[in-house]
Amino acid sequence: MRRLRSEGHQLWIVDGRSGVGFVCWVFRTRAPVAAAKGRWIDLPDSVVCVEDSLTAPAMRGRGIAPGAWCALADRLEADGVQALVTKVEHWNRPSHRALAKTGFRPTAEMKLDRAWGRSRVAATPLGGGTGALLAGLILGGREG
Ligand SMILES: CC(C)(COP(=O)(O)OP(=O)(O)OC[C@H]1O[C@@H](n2cnc3c(N)ncnc32)[C@H](O)[C@@H]1OP(=O)(O)O)[C@@H](O)C(=O)NCCC(=O)NCCS
Repeated sequence: MRRLRSEGHQLWIVDGRSGVGFVCWVFRTRAPVAAAKGRWIDLPDSVVCVEDSLTAPAMRGRGIAPGAWCALADRLEADGVQALVTKVEHWNRPSHRALAKTGFRPTAEMKLDRAWGRSRVAATPLGGGTGALLAGLILGGREG
């Protein structure tokens, strides 16, 4: 955590009165992507990556994550940020539901196959937004 914060990444917390209600990391200038070469991608200043979003189990289903992402977007827009991106796995229905409430939309699909210690990644833009940029950054430097 100290290392990430010293690099300028930020941990955002929603105070849930009786404890932490929600947390997420905000990555600027570069973001962790396990499938990318070096496991990180460089981001332009106008794009910020939100990762590791987590609502306290007892507080789920109350719109806390969507509210937090919207508040974050308002703050970051004032800094010139034009897009928030986040990764979500296909099976994660609660996350898809929460993201859809805030105006997030799918811009790229990533597939990672691991076998015999080797990994193969595919990244496909879904049209518009940051999809082409992200797919290019994820595939950059890899054989495909
Ligand atoms: C994804 C997550 C951050 C959403 O947070 P949230 O503050 O509960 O968001 P919402 O209140 O908008 O709820 C989203 C969906 O969660 C589901 N949900 C509702 N109540 C729930 C509960 N008590 N427990 C679990 N899921 C619940 C519903 O499908 C809901 O969608 P709906 O409101 O359209 O019915 C939260 O479920 C979570 O921390 N999950 C584990 C970590 C994770 O998967 N992080 C996301 C990584 S991309």
